[in-house]
Amino acid sequence: MKKFLAMAVAAVMVLGVAACSSGTTEETQETEQTEETEGETTEETEGGEVLLMGCSADFAPFEYYADDAVTITGYDIDMMQEVCNRIGRTLQVQDMNFDAIVAGVQTGKLDVGASGITITEERQASVNFSEPYFVAAQSILVPKDSPITGYQDLIDGDYTASVQLATTGDIMASEKMPGRVSQFEKYGDALAALMAGKVDCMVLDTGVANAYAEANDLKVLDENFGNPEDKEYYGIAVAKENTELLDQINAALADMEADGFFEELDAKYFSES
Ligand code: ARG
Repeated sequence: MKKFLAMAVAAVMVLGVAACSSGTTEETQETEQTEETEGETTEETEGGEVLLMGCSADFAPFEYYADDAVTITGYDIDMMQEVCNRIGRTLQVQDMNFDAIVAGVQTGKLDVGASGITITEERQASVNFSEPYFVAAQSILVPKDSPITGYQDLIDGDYTASVQLATTGDIMASEKMPGRVSQFEKYGDALAALMAGKVDCMVLDTGVANAYAEANDLKVLDENFGNPEDKEYYGIAVAKENTELLDQINAALADMEADGFFEELDAKYFSES
């Protein structure tokens, strides 16, 4: 999958622009997207019980606002739409701050969290995760003329970083660069801080970092934040007690892998065309 991320720069650039502009202008956090998704699902899931998915729609190409600035679209939405088609549910997407998603799933406010969420032990204490569906790593995004050359500079120096609150980038940076991390609810604001020179770098998932770099004339360092072999796996979060839904989702994901749906999805969001 990492290969896809590397190849994806050009394609993701366009999506990155959409995500950036919506990230900074979209103040409403509770945007419910009912018409679009229900419209799309009526044929196959007519009458299907609503499945409410929480995401932070600032993470192109996984979840971001389309050009109409109303519709939330992206890899996670297409994936969950397909899962819903297969399990007879009607998808409804809700934009929210990333740090509220796992808690929302845990307390039953959301049926699932699908937001490029990395499966971590800490999160697994609160919710269950589906089988992994994507591999990622943490990248370091800097201005093109930055003196920062790699991960070690961030550990040793007095550089500062912006992150999205409660993400793995936040958790790692806060541990390795204590007192030098600025947390933001939305990626658009973390990026704005970097663009304004208020911080020296941003720590975030590779695919999204590449998109921001292309769209904003920034660069992603070759070295990951952390060890080169550090990888993260995205999963769909489901409430602990909702094992039936988790089983349904896992079965759908396995079928989608087997019958080529994911291959097409990867091509749609991570190819150069
Ligand atoms: N993968 C990272 C994490 O789980 C970042 C996810 C951020 N997702 C988003 N839609 N903003 O912490």
